[in-house]
Amino acid sequence: MRFCKQIGRIACSGRIAFGANRVHVIAEPIQELKDISKTLPSAISTRLNALTRQLEGERGAFNALSFIGNKLSGVRDVFDATALLEAVLKEAVVLMQGDRAALALVEKMGLRVVASRSRENDADVTVSHTFLERVVNTGQALVSTNVQEDPNMDSSASILALEIRSVLAVPLRSRDEVIGVLYVDTLFHHRMFSDIDAAVLATFATQASVAVVLARSVQQDHERNVAFIKTMLTTLDARDPYTAGHSNRVGDYTLKLSKVLGWKAADQERALFTGWVHDIGKIGIRDEFLFKKEPLTIGEREIIEEHSVIGERILTTMMPENQVILGAVRHHHERWDGRGYPDKLEGESIPMLARMIALADTFDAMTTARPYSTPKTWENGFEILRLEAGKQFASDLIEPFVQALSDENVGSSVGGQVMLSPLNQTQNLEVV
Ligand SMILES: [Fe+2]
Repeated sequence: MRFCKQIGRIACSGRIAFGANRVHVIAEPIQELKDISKTLPSAISTRLNALTRQLEGERGAFNALSFIGNKLSGVRDVFDATALLEAVLKEAVVLMQGDRAALALVEKMGLRVVASRSRENDADVTVSHTFLERVVNTGQALVSTNVQEDPNMDSSASILALEIRSVLAVPLRSRDEVIGVLYVDTLFHHRMFSDIDAAVLATFATQASVAVVLARSVQQDHERNVAFIKTMLTTLDARDPYTAGHSNRVGDYTLKLSKVLGWKAADQERALFTGWVHDIGKIGIRDEFLFKKEPLTIGEREIIEEHSVIGERILTTMMPENQVILGAVRHHHERWDGRGYPDKLEGESIPMLARMIALADTFDAMTTARPYSTPKTWENGFEILRLEAGKQFASDLIEPFVQALSDENVGSSVGGQVMLSPLNQTQNLEVV
């Protein structure tokens, strides 16, 4: 009797209503259906298993859609957008109980795989372009239940060589246009995809498409901003080649510190970017003050110190909502003891990224050649930072900073990946 009630509920509804309570309610019946199917004749059991898998898949799709939906509303900049696409792939692997996933986008030069991951990590995976292109050209989901025995897979040698068991790919759409492909596969030891899986992934792809469109839009904005920033940094370079490379190194040191502090990849990338642009406001300071060889008067020093506020103002026009970057640029000359500028912030009230930039900025100024001083060794630099703990710098950042620069395993790439928009040119921003 109980069995009939459960079957009736699923069969009569035809599909699952995706309310949060409804999903919660059906969690136990799924397990109950699995248990019941073991006691039934094989024909009924097979059909019941298929329905159960569909139910399970739709429930998983709802959860994944909800998760991505929440992420969508949290995208503030290109770094969030990158993290969003990574989250899409991660959810796809979990949802489909797959081994690997990839996201390919249709670009001017053709179809390009922009992100991929395996079940465990974000490693690169080899994907058959032939298969992906077939999805783009037909605009239809493609599933190959058993790759090794599928005559349609002959031309996809890369799939066969990797001992892939089953592949599934669905188109991503914006309006009526195919903008990309979401791909998932399983390896030899694992399960085979079915048409039901294709339907589940197609449902998920609707939200993935929204994520891709958003990420692309944010990326285009970011590229325009980066082009503009590059121009300004190049202008600064031309004014003072003596300190060339300073901003690049500050970016690199801040990135490494963020890694030691355990920041997520998107936050690491934001830290790197902020290091690059922290002194961009110097473009608004006249040479006669910025490069004066003689001691500065109080008035001249105040003019130079305006560069942090000018930098915040410049970047506000490009990324008005990005308070993390804007705050770090404005406050990168604050001191832990409250004697810095521009706002004389003190201790914990100084934004974390500003505290980190302050360390990296000062360390680089001490350890590189300047017109007015000889460079200190890194060991001397570390000792001076330690002496300034609790005065100029946050005490709890000193040893992580030393570790970040001393440990050869702390690399200069974000999360093990190539950066989205490297500003890998030499800079010449003098530290003030
Ligand atoms: Fe500065």
